[in-house]
Amino acid sequence: MLIMSSGKQVMIFIDTDKHASPFDILMLADLFPESQSIYYSNVEPEDVQKIVQDAIFPRGPEGCKNTKLFIGGSNVEKANKIVKIALKSMFPPFELATIIDPSGAHTTGSAAVAKTLQILLKNSLGDLKGKNVTVLAATGPVGEITSSIYQSEGANVIVTSRKQERADSLAERLNKDSSNKVTSLQAAAPEDVGKAISNADVVMAAGSAGVQLLSIDILKEHGNKCKVVADVNAVPPVGVENLKSQGDGVEVIPGVIGVGALAIGGLKNKVEGKLIAKAMDMPKGVLDYKIGYELAKEYVYKKMGKSSE
Ligand SMILES: NC(=O)c1ccc[n+]([C@@H]2O[C@H](COP(=O)([O-])OP(=O)(O)OC[C@H]3O[C@@H](n4cnc5c(N)ncnc54)[C@H](OP(=O)(O)O)[C@@H]3O)[C@@H](O)[C@H]2O)c1
Repeated sequence: MLIMSSGKQVMIFIDTDKHASPFDILMLADLFPESQSIYYSNVEPEDVQKIVQDAIFPRGPEGCKNTKLFIGGSNVEKANKIVKIALKSMFPPFELATIIDPSGAHTTGSAAVAKTLQILLKNSLGDLKGKNVTVLAATGPVGEITSSIYQSEGANVIVTSRKQERADSLAERLNKDSSNKVTSLQAAAPEDVGKAISNADVVMAAGSAGVQLLSIDILKEHGNKCKVVADVNAVPPVGVENLKSQGDGVEVIPGVIGVGALAIGGLKNKVEGKLIAKAMDMPKGVLDYKIGYELAKEYVYKKMGKSSE
């Protein structure tokens, strides 16, 4: 007699890229060596219903509890379509816990915001509510999630782009479901960047790898109110001049404390590990930046010896 076992934990990685990223697969392997990974590369939205439905039926409802999805890839727009179709392809009791992290944006954004919160708290500057935050080059996947988290934390957010229309279109997306409206600004030339940060308590540089967005001269000249500056770009030249990637709570200019990309990356990896561990524990449900940020915040408050409630 064939005995069907539904006990083994299996994570199915759905990736929009030509080659599924080993990053998340390796993280699972280290955290849960007994688990198994199945990965699909180059996935198109029209492939997804079949993949998901072929995953929910063979192991039955009990097996679904041990079968997880991880939706990633660098094409965020496509990945977001895939998420919608994947979730629509499930129904009770055939549901899979699903992690959403295209381009690493959900985990990176969660960590980036939490690290700036950590610096504010550490320096007795309060939390993010009511703070003026400028996210430079906010139009990428990481910048969008980062801005959205600041917005949901009650900060007054400015998002910038080299093109006004791109900043406007991001602001429109962010403002659709929030009463805390973000403002869009064009910041192409250094003087525009100066204007964009002139009122900011917190500046987040969210630009492409290898692009410097903020020079020390501009920060000195326009960042009079700035208390915290952060950067997610670890590739030289980094996003904020003189802010080392490893820097974590270092003074960039007098009175402005910085956190660099590798310091943010360290927390990003912790958040991803916690999301994976949570997915392994959950029979169903979605794990995205909302949960990721709660986990990052919990970590930060724990470090501070406080509760995040
Ligand atoms: N620390 C980590 O663990 C981690 C994880 C993932 C990603 N990252 C890093 O996070 C950063 C953001 O990632 P992403 O995928 O969101 O970035 P992205 O989409 O490549 O770029 C973000 C924005 O940068 C702006 N930009 C591009 N080239 C520019 C240039 N030459 N001058 C000025 N602005 C420019 C663009 O905005 P406009 O065209 O609208 O101006 C773009 O939308 C990257 O540096 C990436 O390496 C870090």
